[in-house]
Amino acid sequence: MGVKEIFETMDYGPAPESAAEALAWLVDQGDRFGHFIEGAWTDVGETFESRNPATGEVLAHVTQGTQADVDAAVAAARKAQPKWAKLGGPGRARVLYALARLVQKHSRLLAVLETMDNGKPIRESRDIDIPLVARHFYYHAGLAQLMESEAPGMEPLGVCGQVIPWNFPLLMLAWKVAPAIAAGNCVVLKPAEYTSLTALCFADICRQAGVPKGVVNIVTGDGRTGEMIVTHDGVDKVAFTGSTEVGRRIREATAGQGKSLTLELGGKGPYIVFDDADLDSAIEGLVDAIWFNQGQVCCAGSRLLVQESVAGRFHDKLKARMDKLRVGDPLDKCVDVGAVVDPVQLGTIRDMVEGSDGEVYRADCDVPEGCFYPPTLITGLAPSDRLMQEEIFGPVLVSTTFRTPDEAVALANNTRYGLAASVWTENLNLALGMAPKLAAGVVWINGTNMFDAAAGFGGVRESGFGREGGWEGLSAYLKPAVKAKALKTTEARTGTPDETGEALDRTAKMYVGGKQARPDGGYSRAIYGASGKLIGHVGIGNRKDLRNAVEAAQGAKGWSRTTGHLRAQILYYIAENLEARSGEFAARIDALTGGRNGRTEVAATVSRLFSYGAWADKYAGDLRSVPIRGMALAVREPVGVIGALCPDEAPLLGFVSVMAPAIAMGNRVVLVPSEAYPLAATDFYQVLETSDVPGGVVNIVTGRHADLAEPLASHLDVDAAWSFSSSALSQAIEAKSAGNLKRTWVNNGIARDWMGTEGEGRAFLDQATEVKTVWVPYGE
Ligand code: NAI
Repeated sequence: MGVKEIFETMDYGPAPESAAEALAWLVDQGDRFGHFIEGAWTDVGETFESRNPATGEVLAHVTQGTQADVDAAVAAARKAQPKWAKLGGPGRARVLYALARLVQKHSRLLAVLETMDNGKPIRESRDIDIPLVARHFYYHAGLAQLMESEAPGMEPLGVCGQVIPWNFPLLMLAWKVAPAIAAGNCVVLKPAEYTSLTALCFADICRQAGVPKGVVNIVTGDGRTGEMIVTHDGVDKVAFTGSTEVGRRIREATAGQGKSLTLELGGKGPYIVFDDADLDSAIEGLVDAIWFNQGQVCCAGSRLLVQESVAGRFHDKLKARMDKLRVGDPLDKCVDVGAVVDPVQLGTIRDMVEGSDGEVYRADCDVPEGCFYPPTLITGLAPSDRLMQEEIFGPVLVSTTFRTPDEAVALANNTRYGLAASVWTENLNLALGMAPKLAAGVVWINGTNMFDAAAGFGGVRESGFGREGGWEGLSAYLKPAVKAKALKTTEARTGTPDETGEALDRTAKMYVGGKQARPDGGYSRAIYGASGKLIGHVGIGNRKDLRNAVEAAQGAKGWSRTTGHLRAQILYYIAENLEARSGEFAARIDALTGGRNGRTEVAATVSRLFSYGAWADKYAGDLRSVPIRGMALAVREPVGVIGALCPDEAPLLGFVSVMAPAIAMGNRVVLVPSEAYPLAATDFYQVLETSDVPGGVVNIVTGRHADLAEPLASHLDVDAAWSFSSSALSQAIEAKSAGNLKRTWVNNGIARDWMGTEGEGRAFLDQATEVKTVWVPYGE
């Protein structure tokens, strides 16, 4: 074709990137890979093939990890960890910096290898994936450097088991490995079985960067190997990215093992276009939202919600744009949409589209034979249709319309997921008004699919919990540096029944929706003092009482919209009212526990309330410096409804230490007071009643922790479950939380010093909030 014809047709010529270097690297490695354990390659074991999905060609043979391999990798990580931690933040920073530099140096090799292994267009791996990998190591080199001054009193968790998916193979590795090793942990990472090659190339880079042996271990294999890693006894923290289904299985499998867990799972991101949006920009954004990486993106804008008045025009523009997308050889620099990762995934996409009764528009563009799927738009679906609800994880967009902003919010939130959302409008008030209403961990305003190491990424609801990126991402790899003491079970005191029946008049009620409530079951339990004397009765709460309390808490949503200033005043007021009755509360605590610390405990409780009054308007989040036009606001939002089993060690202080941070941050709570000493908490609702706390914000259900733990953890309208109980209930709570994948915070049988700094502060505020990252255009 001559220059004249090219100008006339404006067709693209082929612009292939050479595969030679990447193929040579594979040949150098012998095409057969063992694992990377303790700084060396293991012998090749039983292998599986890693194929190029665009051509079907076998690229390499990769070893299926066995239990012995996982044991060896965990042992290597364990052995290396103390020395790596002792190297200190600045020492580790140098190693991370070397990794960043080497990723940049080998960026073309990594980009080509990634494209060959995964099928994504080279334009993306070259311009997005690999630069973000380098950025991640640079940023975390910085966090390591500053960690000791900025996160004092914290230490690494130990050995991290990390399992990642195939959609961003090296980027997900960087998201996992960089914070873990920056914090002083060692890792055992398993790449996805479709895409192991860049992880293995990264192992090679670790050697060049001088990463000490055993700090980074890469074990390849399928889900069976993944399961061995996440359930391994020697693993202290599990970080997983992948499907919600596997995430749920991991939550159940690791329940009660005392492991930290972060899950980054699926999504069905709404892409909301208002009639005043710059429609052409919104179309270009949509191309990035759903056709980036063939739509195999957990935060893809896969659900278009377009305002009815412009829907026809928008769909016409969209179809015209879809027809111009170039689908084909991922190594061609002019290609927009590459190959789907594997024929299995292609089959899933096909089946989902074919099973839909919506109106299907397939882009009128050439689609090569093989593992390719045309850009597709489906309209005419009801909000409850499967394709509107489930991840397709392919280049398929579903679309519906809305009339008002409220309707847009309702449709956007009508999903079990909550990962990311985009809002397109030229009206700043509207955009920023929408952001807090969307159930999502990330909101992009007039943008989409923007990522950076400084900005937290992660979801709410069934999209998982935990953040990657920013200080909040690093904190998921740290714990307070305190010597753990085992928690002793506190038994309720026994005594002599009161034969006069006088105590019947002193049955403390529960507190639900701002009102005193009798237990549904009609049973109560005698509470004896230290002297064995009967001092009262408390109701034995059951599942129904909990349900009522959760309903009341859900009904008090307005509390989450109040200002920090208002919540601060209410917390100060509670403190003041408690102080006025301190003598009475101190006597009660002494009578219950048989100690003489009542006064000290009440004084500490008053002080704690003042602390959280202070925090209420000072923990709103911050601003992140991102290297993209705009800024990222890290907004700390309340989690929602928090259910908690309160500690036995400090009947009043423990109860308030759980309640106060939660309500200070705008949550509503369902609290189960100390089982042994519940009366300190039931007296406390009188203080709440006189302190302007709106009904439903604090609900108190007394009863047996062992009976209430499961219903609390499995309730679908509870957003987080905490347990500080001295009964061993961590396993039950973590296992039952898997239903709606609520966040959990359990003590794993470790005692906490409620009087000291362990009983208060940022750890509580972090657990009481979710970081929502809002990307806002800013500057030129
Ligand atoms: P997956 O969730 O099964 O795989 C992700 C990773 O988990 C892989 O490394 C896999 O080997 C590992 N794994 C599988 N079972 C495991 C277990 N029981 N314990 C520990 N690790 C385990 O995802 P898959 O099967 O590759 O894709 C299926 C669907 O999942 C996709 O169609 C898509 O809808 C969704 N998906 C979502 C991702 C996201 O980032 N949200 C990423 C990948 C897939």
